[in-house]
Amino acid sequence: MPFPEKNKKNAKVLVIGASGQVGSSIVRTLNAKKNYKIFKASSAPQKDFYLVDLTRPDTVSKAFSKINPDLVFLCGAFTNVETCQAQQEKAYILNAGGPRIVGRLCAECRAKVIFFSTEYVFDGKNGPYSEEDEPNPISIYGKSKLEGEKSLANVKGALIIRTTVVYNYDIKSKNFLMQVLNKAERGEKMRVPLDQYSNPTWAVELAKFSVELAERKKEGIYNVVGSQIMSRYDFALEICRSFGLRNNFLQAVPTELLGQKARRPLRAGLKTDKIFREFGRRLLPPAIALPKINKTYGNIV
Ligand SMILES: NC(=O)c1ccc[n+]([C@@H]2O[C@H](COP(=O)([O-])OP(=O)(O)OC[C@H]3O[C@@H](n4cnc5c(N)ncnc54)[C@H](OP(=O)(O)O)[C@@H]3O)[C@@H](O)[C@H]2O)c1
Repeated sequence: MPFPEKNKKNAKVLVIGASGQVGSSIVRTLNAKKNYKIFKASSAPQKDFYLVDLTRPDTVSKAFSKINPDLVFLCGAFTNVETCQAQQEKAYILNAGGPRIVGRLCAECRAKVIFFSTEYVFDGKNGPYSEEDEPNPISIYGKSKLEGEKSLANVKGALIIRTTVVYNYDIKSKNFLMQVLNKAERGEKMRVPLDQYSNPTWAVELAKFSVELAERKKEGIYNVVGSQIMSRYDFALEICRSFGLRNNFLQAVPTELLGQKARRPLRAGLKTDKIFREFGRRLLPPAIALPKINKTYGNIV
């Protein structure tokens, strides 16, 4: 039986990519619940972390045999869309090979795997997309993540969470909120695409919904994203509004003028009806989440 039948109390949870934006939010959420034994993993040797390098299957197997987890959050990935385009082999090794190895090991030890995927599995011609829509990725990042999803299709209990534009206040992160705040602080101009539409997603809520989905034994694909679809430029404006910043450093530009190597899904976004049907609630839109973030961190700006 997959989690949580196995070791319901004090389940052992391995978080791969625990230092990243999503992984660290998952760790915080699990910590707050107090009924999990948490094992953080990183591809770099460091204190308090198990070594799990998805490009080195031996490190993954070793961690699994030491921990024998009940639940595995797979947040480790090659996440830079532009660099993935330039380093295709590495993108597939990490984003497709990683889930394959982790899925196999989870099946062997009957652990539940929760894999984080992306709206970039779609081409962005006619979004927003539901969990049932046919993917058609247009970048190496999107293609490699879709391969990762497919490699978990036959793993019992596997949960695939598609998300996008994840943000939180996190000085270590280069998430879009931090990019806007940093540019504003330095007084630098920032070019922001006006034609890329998707749902900005607060990392704190993403983590809470993800843990709840796992606890409720959900499996298959779930879109876990903020409830509002907006252009990246409108998101930047909302950040300025919520943080009391002037917005004259923002320059709205079409994506084609940004000179990006990887194509972006433009009319993208993910539908949140499935999560609403099953949870009776959706994740917050930026206009509500951003002021909460500002307040939590003591009026950042
Ligand atoms: N952030 C978003 O907007 C967004 C949107 C859609 C989907 N996602 C998905 O959500 C997941 C987490 O994203 P994130 O935003 O947290 O990314 P992130 O902040 O870039 O973190 C990625 C993590 O991957 C780990 N990692 C890198 N190379 C690794 C390797 N060889 N083996 C094992 N782990 C490795 C890194 O930790 P170490 O260097 O310590 O190993 C890091 O913690 C990813 O699967 C991503 O595709 C994110």
